[in-house]
Amino acid sequence: MTQSRVLLCKVSELPPGQMKRVDIEGHDPMVLCNAEGVFHLLDDECTHAIASLSEGDLEEHQLYCPLHGGSFDVRTGKATGLPCKQAIRTFPVDVYDDGVWFSKP
Ligand code: FES
Repeated sequence: MTQSRVLLCKVSELPPGQMKRVDIEGHDPMVLCNAEGVFHLLDDECTHAIASLSEGDLEEHQLYCPLHGGSFDVRTGKATGLPCKQAIRTFPVDVYDDGVWFSKP
């Protein structure tokens, strides 16, 4: 099976504390977070109801949903604040050549 790499953004485009929604063909929407200088890629849709997490708030390693204020740890995807109970999926990224890359299976 071959993998194709997708450039998500340049490192300089997403400073610490910032996040952005990522839409890749054939994949559910994802959110790319820069949490204190480390990039994390997760599902963008909240597991509680229908909300786009990239429209919420990122504070340190906590990603807060804009709809009901539930939260997730961006390092693990685990739910850390009610009403969220179910984790969100996380995906690996690679950082090189001033870019943040996702490998499509
Ligand atoms: S939809 Fe995210 S906390 Fe309710």
